[in-house]
Amino acid sequence: MKMSPKDFVARKGTKPIPMLTAYTCPVARSVEQAGVPIILVGDTVGMVEMGFDSTRDVTIEHMEYHIGAVRRGAKSTHIIGDLPYRTDRDPETALENARRLVNAGADSVKLEGANTQVIRHLVEHNIPVVGHTGLLPQTAENFKQVGRTEEDAQRVMDEARAIEAAGAFMVVLEHIPYPLARAITHALTIPTIGIGAGPDCDGQVLVINDALGLGDYWPPFSKQYAYASRTVLQVASEFSEEVESMKFPNNIIQFTGTNGR
Ligand code: KIV
Ligand code: NA
Repeated sequence: MKMSPKDFVARKGTKPIPMLTAYTCPVARSVEQAGVPIILVGDTVGMVEMGFDSTRDVTIEHMEYHIGAVRRGAKSTHIIGDLPYRTDRDPETALENARRLVNAGADSVKLEGANTQVIRHLVEHNIPVVGHTGLLPQTAENFKQVGRTEEDAQRVMDEARAIEAAGAFMVVLEHIPYPLARAITHALTIPTIGIGAGPDCDGQVLVINDALGLGDYWPPFSKQYAYASRTVLQVASEFSEEVESMKFPNNIIQFTGTNGR
């Protein structure tokens, strides 16, 4: 059964929340089958699926396309849609774009930074919002850890508090020192979801391609549960070899599809 923003807030302090990104229908289907209660269709899609160097190249149309695919694969899972770079630049523009993501299949939207006017405006118009602080890939110059100095740590803490006060029901903490993530988690009443933020958050999120090992780079704080790129390489090599050596197809195995096709 699909969890609501209220359900996630109620879960804080009881049981950690697993979140994964997904961008395609079959992956979303498996994530839902695994019982993961919340899927993020992140603008990381631009980097891990589309080959861009930055999430700044992602458009609202890209997000609609991927949110639609994920929704068709995961009909009863809460889906967060990321608002791409600059699509949240002012409250009216953000609302228009957030509605597009909701119409495409999202249950809530996520935006980077303590843009409290925008968050308030979306919440007032019944669009649940997930915040995001710490490392903010849309505007960061590099992917270094954020919040290392006392002053910067205070800034991140203040942003997290402002995001909660503006009405967000959850906040992503990206690539900050573990003690800072712990302090923020204790200071807030909404759940914190960490990525590269240590074990003391209320939940954890991974980019599914990183977890699958589907790509040629993953951040040090991610974990590879598989090496899917190796499988693709092996399948492509085997197929290629079998076609060239006329091993596939052969006239012994025919119509062995398991789903009637
Ligand atoms: O776009 C994304 O996948 C994200 C996560 C890294 C939190 O924002
Ligand atoms: Na993102």
